[in-house]
Order: sequence, then structure tokens, then C-alpha cells
Amino acid sequence: MQKIIITGGAGFIGSHVVRRFVKNYPDYNIINLDKLTYAGNLANLRDIENEPNYRFIKGDIVDTGFISKLFEDEQPDAVIHLAAESHVDRSITNPLEFVMTNVVGTVSLLTAARNSWKGRYNGTRFYHVSTDEVYGSLGETGMFTEETAYDPHSPYSASKASSDHFVRAYYDTYGLNTVISNCSNNYGSYHFPEKLIPLAINNIKQNKPVPVYGKGENVRDWLWVEDHARAIDVIFHKAKAGTTYNIGGHNEWKNIDLIRLLCRILDEKLGRSEGESAKLITFVTDRAGHDLRYAIDATKLKNDLGWTPSITFEEGLEKTVDWYLANEDWLNDVTSGHYQQYYNEQYTDR
Ligand code: NAD
Ligand code: TYD
Repeated sequence: MQKIIITGGAGFIGSHVVRRFVKNYPDYNIINLDKLTYAGNLANLRDIENEPNYRFIKGDIVDTGFISKLFEDEQPDAVIHLAAESHVDRSITNPLEFVMTNVVGTVSLLTAARNSWKGRYNGTRFYHVSTDEVYGSLGETGMFTEETAYDPHSPYSASKASSDHFVRAYYDTYGLNTVISNCSNNYGSYHFPEKLIPLAINNIKQNKPVPVYGKGENVRDWLWVEDHARAIDVIFHKAKAGTTYNIGGHNEWKNIDLIRLLCRILDEKLGRSEGESAKLITFVTDRAGHDLRYAIDATKLKNDLGWTPSITFEEGLEKTVDWYLANEDWLNDVTSGHYQQYYNEQYTDR
């Protein structure tokens, strides 16, 4: 039986990856390792938490003593590493936290994996989940390929770029069986409402201002989170050691156009008159160092491993809006901080 530690499994993308692996591979043993920061929420996994092939362990990847003991105790065959501080705006306020979790935490896991696998890398895998933001910002044209030089601008993307370099260094230096994927912006269910799409849906629903940074001209390339989880599944099982894959949906949107689209969808779904929600759009001071445009060329993933997105943006966005409207309790819980208080009472840090 293959034992996989998935880090950050209580977060947005991690919960979709955990769910997919628990459901699709009943003969795998899945351990969700998560610190349960403000972004980690076990309610994201209620539907699978009692499955016999799933276990949750609360812990901090930065705690090297804890991580090395965990690897000794559990003897995992593979790691899928998603745990991270993930929000650019928070990285501007507190860069050091991003260095600790994203850089030190990743090296802590790499070291434990190397010590645990002791150079016998057959049947092992360290899969590092990264972002397209490591490539920096594009002008009006062009796309990021796997060959694009790293040029991060925010403390978040700088910390992710650094972690990618460490993963490659462990492949080059020690021969660790590593794989990296760099994905574009995700959207979908269980997305913490500090990020653009869930924040806009929540604010529109509550008739609160929807903040648009700068002029709303920045472009992001959006991918449905379940398609990202599918890509991770394919890459985990099929990629050669030491390789990198870009993941994206060929789906670029200017922020202002995307927000206007969400306003139109919600006008209809909430029975508002046309144009009512758009009145909530509020232009605010731009983010410092705001990258203009991201766009992913995912040709390598398509050609090598046959992956393409399974649904269109229109379908994905409609599903997403419906999910947030149907899951008011989840949204209220994460915005009220009730669940954080609950976890603080339920779990004590190791
Ligand atoms: P998220 O913020 O929703 O979740 C992060 C998870 O990591 C949370 O459950 C949190 O509790 C956990 N965590 C944080 N610090 C930890 C620590 N020190 N030890 C253990 N667990 C810790 O993030 P997400 O949006 O799901 O992103 C997951 C991964 O995917 C990240 O590595 C991110 O860089 C990458 N990524 C995200 C996107 C995106 O659009 N969200 C796009 C491409 C890549
Ligand atoms: P975000 O969801 O934070 O993802 P990232 O910065 O990692 O791409 O932001 C997506 C885009 O939306 C980005 O260009 C910043 C912008 N944005 C706003 O205009 N208003 C907001 O309230 C937020 C959170 C983001």
C-alpha cells in the first residue's frame, strides 16, 4: 500500500487533492499534514474524513524535529507538498512568515524525505506544488513556459521561487525523486474569501463594496481547482523524476471584466435588476509591485501526459457561484473566525 503525506490538505487546493486521492485510490494511505492556520479548515473535508484510507495529523512543516520524527514513524513513500502561506497581500505585510513556511518548511520536508529514503529513491516521490507567479509579470503578449526565467516580484512569489530552487537542488545534488508543477490562479469551492473570486462573490452577496485594485487592468489566467487536482494526479503518477510542468487553462481575464461578469451572474441568481451588483465595484489603491499579467503555456503537459481542462470557465464559474450560495454556513464560519477558535480549543500544537 502506497503511503502519501499531503501537506496543506486542509487548505483550498490541498482539500481537493486529498479528496481526489482518498476517493480514487482506496488502496493508498493518505495522511493530511496541516498546521491549520487561518487558511486551513477541516470542514473542507467533512465528506471524506471517516474514510478508512484517510488520516489527519496537525503539525507545522517548519518544526524540523517534528517533521523528521513524523517521517521515521510513518515511513511515507511519497509527499505531495501544498502547505504554504499563499496570499500576496499578506506577504507584503509579513514577508518573514512566508520565508519560514514556504522556504524553511519546504527544506525541512526535503531533508526529512532524503533522510527517510536514504538514497533509495525507487518507488518514492517528492511532488512540490508551485505557482506561475515565480515567472514574474508578462506584458501584453507572450506566455510562461517551463523554460521562462524566474523573476518573482512579491515576497510570496520570491518565497515560492526559492522553494522551487531548493527542490531542484535536492534532485541535482542528492538525486531525490522530485517533480514540480507551476499552476495559474485557481478558483472553485472551499476558496478562502480573501482571494479575488470568493471575496467578490461574498461581498456582492452581502451588498458590500467590491474592491478593485488600481484600474482593474491586471490579467490572471484562471483554472478550475478540480482540474488542477486532476493535473496533480496525472503528474504525480506519470512524470519523470526531475521534471517540471506548467498547468493552466488558457483562460485570461482582466480583473475588472471578471468582476463585472460575476456581478451579472449574481444579479440573475439573486433576482436583482440588471446592473445593480456592479454598483458595488469600488476602485481602491493598487497593490504594491502588482504583476500586470500571468498566462500559462501548458502545451508540455498536454503533449507529454495528455492533460487538458475538463470544463469551460463559464461552467466552472457557474458551479462556483452556486456552491458559495448553497454553502452560506461555510462562508459565514470562515469569515467569522469561529472555526479558528474551535480548532484552538480542539487541538494543541505539538
Ligand atoms: P491555502 O492558503 O488555501 O492553504 C494552505 C494550507 O497550508 C492551509 O491549510 C494551511 O493551514 C497550511 N499551512 C500553512 N502553513 C503551514 C505550516 N507551516 N505547516 C503545515 N501546514 C501549513 O493555499 P492554496 O491556495 O490551497 O495553495 C496551495 C498550494 O498551491 C500553495 O503551495 C500555493 O503556493 C500553490 N498554488 C496556489 C494557487 C492558487 O491560485 N491558490 C495557484 C498555484 C499554486
Ligand atoms: P488574488 O486572488 O489575491 O490572487 P493573486 O494575487 O495571487 O493573483 O488576486 C487576483 C487579482 O485580483 C490580482 O490582480 C489582485 C486583484 N484583486 C483585486 O483587485 N481586489 C481584491 O480584493 C483582491 C483580493 C485581488
